[in-house]
Amino acid sequence: MESEKVTMLRYRGSKLSRMKKIDIFPKIEETFKETSSVGGTFSIFSFLLIIWLVYSEINYYLDSKFVFKFSPDTDYDAKLKINVDITVAMPCSNLGADTLDSTHQNAYKFGSLEEEDTWFELAPNQQIHFDNKKHFNSYLREEYHAIKDLLWKSSFSTMFADMPERSSHPDRPYDACRIYGSLILNKVSGNFHITAGKSLNLPRGHIHISTFMSERDYNFTHRINKFSFGDLSPGIVHPLEGDELITNNGMTLYNYFIEVVPTNVKTFLTSVNTYQYSVKELNRPIDHDKGSHGMPGIFFKYDMSALKVTVSQERDHLGMFLAKLCSIIGGIYVCSGLLNNFVQFCYTFIMCNWDLQSVGKNDVQSSDCKPIPDVVPVSL
Ligand SMILES: *[C@@H]1O[C@H](CO)[C@@H](O)[C@H](O)[C@H]1NC(C)=O
Repeated sequence: MESEKVTMLRYRGSKLSRMKKIDIFPKIEETFKETSSVGGTFSIFSFLLIIWLVYSEINYYLDSKFVFKFSPDTDYDAKLKINVDITVAMPCSNLGADTLDSTHQNAYKFGSLEEEDTWFELAPNQQIHFDNKKHFNSYLREEYHAIKDLLWKSSFSTMFADMPERSSHPDRPYDACRIYGSLILNKVSGNFHITAGKSLNLPRGHIHISTFMSERDYNFTHRINKFSFGDLSPGIVHPLEGDELITNNGMTLYNYFIEVVPTNVKTFLTSVNTYQYSVKELNRPIDHDKGSHGMPGIFFKYDMSALKVTVSQERDHLGMFLAKLCSIIGGIYVCSGLLNNFVQFCYTFIMCNWDLQSVGKNDVQSSDCKPIPDVVPVSL
């Protein structure tokens, strides 16, 4: 029993002494340590520098970046959802809204939008809401590049609330039609339009029947409250929302040329497959005498982009972050040590030489003026 204990101790002792040999942190006895005011100053400066750099490194690590990638869109069987809410200054009975796309399918296949008779003039509470939306959206369009990261990071999938209910009802007949809802379309190019007369589907396309209407009934003044593709996602601005176009010429053709870009937004919180779009607007009065032909109405001609954008929120790897921290601390420690030695060397050198030649022997303590040891190259 006794002997067993002894061997155990001896064994542990020899193991510890082996570990002792490979210690790269040799302890120096306090009496050998020398401190100086220059060294103290350097310590304070290096310490402050380390704190400052570590602080900015932590900030940099916590502040994520957005990485944009472009790749061909290979999602063949996805559908394109279109969300609209448009008010046109014509009664619903005179209007038809439908979609034609390059697959030439029956327009009713996509479902239909709700139509609601209303007044073009907004109630005061609605007007405030719409004006806010208009201004805010135009601000977003202009400042988009400055604030896009902020937008992606915000978890607001919709920047604007829905239009409030009308607070007062004017006592005159309805003069406008609100067309709203969502349609699921094929992901190909197409044309969503609102024009005079109800549409009638024929085997080769479709026509809008507007025989009982005179040109005086035409008024394609419109207000776009919502026009977007896909699901709502933070960071996406819908440039057409908040648009209001008023015309005094009933025979006006409004063309919107839209390029739809599939976009995948991956933030730390969400991952949404949705669409952004860019739009060009063109309107012209229809006047057959002047060679401006066509059909008055509002046409949204959309086309799909072949490239898909992936926006992902990224952050450095934790290991990399820790390695950077270590290199900051270690690097500054070593460098300031070298600099400290150098400054101390110069200081002693100058003070001692000066001291020998001039008067003030008391200024420099003799202990500072040790002979400077030769630098011995370390050999292993
Ligand atoms: C169309 O309606 C709007 C709004 O009510 C009005 O300001 C405009 O003058 C009308 N245009 C025509 C051609 O009637």
